[in-house]
Amino acid sequence: MDHPTQVLLLKSLLTMIEQRQTSMADAIYLNPVESYTSLVQLQREQRHLFDLRPLMIGLGSQLVCPGDYLTDDLSGVPVLVVRDNEGSLNAFINVCRHRGARLLIGSGNIAGAMTCPYHGWAYGLDGRLQRLNPPGSFEGLSCAERNLTRLSVLEQHGLIWVHPMPGGQINEAEVLEPLANEVRDFGFQHYSHYETRRLRRHFNWKVVIDTFLENWHFSTLHRQTVLPIFIPNTSHFEGLGANLRLIMPRRSIVELFGQPEEQWDLLRYSAIIYLLFPNTLLVWQGDHLEVWRIFPAGPGCVDQCFIEVSLHVPTAPTSSKEKDHWDKNMTLLMKTVDGEDFQMARHLQKGYASSAQRYLTFGRNEPALRYFHCAIQTAINGQ
Ligand code: FES
Ligand SMILES: [Fe+2]
Repeated sequence: MDHPTQVLLLKSLLTMIEQRQTSMADAIYLNPVESYTSLVQLQREQRHLFDLRPLMIGLGSQLVCPGDYLTDDLSGVPVLVVRDNEGSLNAFINVCRHRGARLLIGSGNIAGAMTCPYHGWAYGLDGRLQRLNPPGSFEGLSCAERNLTRLSVLEQHGLIWVHPMPGGQINEAEVLEPLANEVRDFGFQHYSHYETRRLRRHFNWKVVIDTFLENWHFSTLHRQTVLPIFIPNTSHFEGLGANLRLIMPRRSIVELFGQPEEQWDLLRYSAIIYLLFPNTLLVWQGDHLEVWRIFPAGPGCVDQCFIEVSLHVPTAPTSSKEKDHWDKNMTLLMKTVDGEDFQMARHLQKGYASSAQRYLTFGRNEPALRYFHCAIQTAINGQ
């Protein structure tokens, strides 16, 4: 984020803090409870949000050397991304073209060829089948007819996007717009992946996003964890296409009152949440990045989700002190989000399934929630 933008946002935030205000929607919004419980809604979301759109799969810095790869099944399509000898990324469906075995698991580095664990067919980093084994058993077939099924992949400003459907195209000019320059300025391609955790939890996938889209609940739910760090009732919201940005000020931000604007540093004094529509959250935490990716847990799993959270740090730790620092961040993160937000979310989902009410009420002080749910409805209605 460039400095003039930081100054503009800080002016707005500091005024809000002085006046005890927050970004407001024009009106309250009634969100149908069905959005979290309906199988029809889930099917439409799966098709329009997860099958037909490019998905953010991780950071390019997770795949540094030739042969570095990662796999990802969370969207329902087994995806394999590998860096080739020229430094480019290739993406494939992670399925062997012989009888369909999963080719690679997890993440790591493969030297040379990608070899199927079932009968040993080997593929180059470009997805080409190297030979049809055993000789004489596949007469009439050429290797070229059994190359891995390629998916479109884009590496932009340190983020990797993959289209989960063969033939699906990724529009480079659109994928991050209008946030491309803002994300570029962070330089995430130079970051170091620290840790990833994956969870399966019993609530609708959108509840995870919801929990990040207001900080009003810090003074009640997070009294013991992050309330001492953040000002709880003030945040700056801006909708940016289908994406959005929410800035939550740290208590230390009051140090900026009276300081010359040239020295203002929004990134140090706030948490900045970017929702990359529909299911990725980049959470800038002052000195490092959390990436959250959230998916429905499968067809029919309207009340279950897969959650992946990764910590990315500016440089790989070189001492136990640095490692302790990032471990403490991960511990606080899990204590707050998994221990507090997701405990609450389990009860929310049970409440949705009850007949208590047909609508949730989003207050004017929760504009990001309204924006996100309206964007979902627009996308699944094909508008
Ligand atoms: S399924 Fe891969 S070699 Fe047989
Ligand atoms: Fe929370």
